[in-house]
Amino acid sequence: MRKTMVVLSLVTLFAAAVIPCTGVFAAINKKPSEKKPTESPVKVVPNGNSCVDCHKALAGNLRSVVLEWEVSVHAKKGNKCNICHGGNPAIYDAKLSKSPEYNFVGRPEKKDIADFCGRGMCHATALHQFKKSPHFDSVLKMGDPNCVSCHGKHNIQRSSMNIISDKTCSDCHSVEYSREIIKSIFSIENDIIKLEENIDYLEKKKADVKDAYDRLKKTKTLFHQLVHVFSKEDIDFTQKIVALEIKSLNDDIVSKLNVVRRLDFIYVFTAVFSFATIFGLAFYVVRMLTKRK
Ligand code: HEC
Ligand code: HEC
Ligand code: HEC
Ligand code: HEC
Repeated sequence: MRKTMVVLSLVTLFAAAVIPCTGVFAAINKKPSEKKPTESPVKVVPNGNSCVDCHKALAGNLRSVVLEWEVSVHAKKGNKCNICHGGNPAIYDAKLSKSPEYNFVGRPEKKDIADFCGRGMCHATALHQFKKSPHFDSVLKMGDPNCVSCHGKHNIQRSSMNIISDKTCSDCHSVEYSREIIKSIFSIENDIIKLEENIDYLEKKKADVKDAYDRLKKTKTLFHQLVHVFSKEDIDFTQKIVALEIKSLNDDIVSKLNVVRRLDFIYVFTAVFSFATIFGLAFYVVRMLTKRK
């Protein structure tokens, strides 16, 4: 009885050690398997992390994608390989985990990358806007510029206007052209940042800034939509609206700031005045007392 127990546990241990390796082996050894075993080996991994675990143990590009992904905004939010590529991360097998029934897409064609990034309701707004842009016309003709031209593929970071740089744009546009666009977009961005700082300051001073916040948020949304539409007309038009709104908001904020500063002044003035009065009174009392002696 004990003997059979020992034999059984040895067999289980052996299976546990070998099964994961056979997956890697099968994957690296790309030969089609001649004989399918009648009883399929246990391939389900409880942690549901097969894509990352297996790819991390591979070499070259198949491994470096994991290292890039690890520092990306997707990884930080817990989104793994399958959020983009599909596949079944519970199966530890290079082929089975990527069977078509799990909607696996390995390497989308360039013209399909936009839709790939918009899969499963991800980035629907960006996708919708991008499809209206002159860049998308170019994608249909020659495949570029795509989401990955500007954002990268695995090492995707939180986006900011800094993506628009000579480096990312000048491959296809003249440096002057990119610079002009960069300049106009960045000047709006700076205006928005300054406004934000002033509103934050007002909020700290307990002024009512809800309305200003809402207006700024709407303006920001309108402005940030520019980056994916990217047509010259849209940029000019949006720029004008945004500039007008920013000016009016700014006037509002400046008058509120003035009120706050006046209040600050009155506060300081009152404080100094009260202090001087108390000090004077004390001084007077002390003098009277010493005189009486
Ligand atoms: C047991 C190991 C293993 C597992 C598990 C695994 N892969 Fe792979 N994967 C490989 C190997 C080996 C290759 C290269 C050979 C090939 O294309 O089959 C590869 C290739 C790929 C490619 C490139 C395909 C192409 O067309 O160039 C992508 C993308 C990919 N894997 C994503 C995934 C995702 C997503 C998962 C999880 C659902 C996953 N892998 C699970 C081993 C694995
Ligand atoms: C944010 C979406 C996204 C995530 C998450 C993601 N990939 Fe990819 N991956 C892509 C895109 C897009 C391509 C195709 C890029 C191209 O063709 O220019 C790609 C291509 C690949 C390729 C083909 C080789 C290459 O470098 O182009 C491999 C292999 C791969 N991915 C593996 C993985 C693995 C493994 C993970 C998880 C660690 C992962 N990917 C996570 C979007 C993603
Ligand atoms: C020509 C360059 C370019 C292309 C192509 C591009 N983007 Fe962007 N994207 C940007 C820039 C610049 C920002 C930063 C905008 C900001 O700070 O408001 C950004 C921001 C984003 C954001 C974060 C802001 C938001 O809207 O929530 C997402 C998500 C995004 N892009 C997805 C995509 C997707 C998906 C595609 C392809 C369909 C794509 N982008 C194509 C330049 C690009
Ligand atoms: C892979 C090539 C490529 C890259 C990279 C690229 N563009 Fe473009 N861009 C094009 C093409 C092609 C067009 C459409 C034809 C045209 O109007 O020149 C275009 C059109 C535009 C337009 C519209 C021009 C108009 O007259 O309506 C703007 C604005 C623009 N790009 C800005 C940028 C910015 C900013 C970047 C960097 C974030 C960038 N592009 C990166 C290829 C590219």
